[in-house]
Amino acid sequence: MKHTVTVDPSGAFLTLQTPNTKFRFHAIWLRDNASDPDTRSTANGQRLITLGDIPADTRIDHAAVKADTLEVQFTPEAKTVAYDIPWLVTHAYDKPAPQQRGWTAADVTTWDARLMDDVPVADFSALRNDPAALRKWLGSVNRYGFGKVVGGPVAEGALFNIVDLFGYVRETNYGRHFEVRTEVNPTNLAYTGLGLQAHTDNPYRDPVPTVQVLYCLESSAAGGDNMVVDGFAAAQRLRDENPAYFDVLANHSAHFEYAGEQGVHLTSRRPMIELAPDGALVSVRFNNRSMAAVTDVPFDKMSTYYAAYRRLGEIIDDAAMQVSFRLDPGEAFVVDNTRVLHARKGYSGEGTRWLQGCYADKDGLRSTYDAMRNTPEAAE
Ligand code: FE2
Repeated sequence: MKHTVTVDPSGAFLTLQTPNTKFRFHAIWLRDNASDPDTRSTANGQRLITLGDIPADTRIDHAAVKADTLEVQFTPEAKTVAYDIPWLVTHAYDKPAPQQRGWTAADVTTWDARLMDDVPVADFSALRNDPAALRKWLGSVNRYGFGKVVGGPVAEGALFNIVDLFGYVRETNYGRHFEVRTEVNPTNLAYTGLGLQAHTDNPYRDPVPTVQVLYCLESSAAGGDNMVVDGFAAAQRLRDENPAYFDVLANHSAHFEYAGEQGVHLTSRRPMIELAPDGALVSVRFNNRSMAAVTDVPFDKMSTYYAAYRRLGEIIDDAAMQVSFRLDPGEAFVVDNTRVLHARKGYSGEGTRWLQGCYADKDGLRSTYDAMRNTPEAAE
C-alpha cells in the first residue's frame, strides 16, 4: 500500500494521501496523539503530559512516509515522532459531518419485527466456558441492544452468573436484585392478562441503569411473552415520518420522577431522545409510568411535543417494531436499557410467573467485549 505525505507551507497541518483517499491532520493534534514513551506510558498507555506541556505554536517541520510509518518532526520542540499509518487512517477526523441527526455508529444495527427469527441467543454453559461464544454474544448485545441466554440453572440468584460474564451488578434502592412475580388468576382482575407498554427502566435515575438482566425461574402461565423494541429504530422512524416531532423530543428535556417509597425521591431531567452534539443517537428514555410534569418545553411547542410523544408511543406499540420471545425457566435476557425498550405481553389462562431482575453497567459490558475483541486470538 502506497502512501504519500505533504506538509502545508504553514506547518499547521499535513495531508496524508492513501490509495483511496486523503486526510489532513493538524500539527497540534498529531503532537498531542504522539505515542512515544515521553508522551505515553509504555506500561498502561496513559498520557504523561498535559496540553500545556506542548508549545501552543507547535508546527510540522518535516514529514516522511517509511513503509507503514509516518515520521513527523515538530518545531519548536525539535521532536520526531513515528505514527502507525493504519492507526492514523482509523482515527482520521477529516471527513464529512453527518448529514442527518439521529444516526448510529457502524457497530450498531437497528432492527424491527423482522429480527424475530434471528434473536441473538447463546447457551449459558457455552458463554461461561467458551470465550469465542461469549465474544460473539457480547458483540450481538452491543450491536442489537439485547441478547437471550438459554440453558442456565433454575436457581435463585442465577441472574448474577449472567452479570459475572461481563461486569458488575448495579445496586439500587430496589436492592441488588428485584423479584418479578405474577400470579395469573382470572378470578382476580388485578392480575389477569395485564400487559405493560414497552418502556425503558428507571428513566428517573441519572444515569439510568444501562443494562438490565431478567432471569426466568418459573413460567407456568400461558402468554406473558417478553417483547423488545429498538428505541433507536423507533426514533429514526419518527424522524423519517416527521422531523419536527423528532426535533421537539430531542431538543427539550422531559422530566421523570419516582417517589413511591419512604426515603426515596428520584428525579431526572433529560430528553426522551438524547443526541450527541453531532446528532448521534445516545439514548432513548420512554416510560409512561414515571413521566413527570414536563416544564422545559416552551408554550408554543407544547402541543407539538405532546403530538410527538403520542406518535412515538404509537410507533413503539406497532407490532411491526416488536420482537417477542418466551422465557422458560433457566432462560434470561440482557437488554441495553439506554436503547431497547422491553415489555411483558398479557397473559391468558392461569399459573405463575417468576423472574428475577437486576441492573448492571453497559460500560463494563463494552469493556469486556472490546478487551476480548482486541486480543490476537479474536482476529476474525
Ligand atoms: Fe421494566
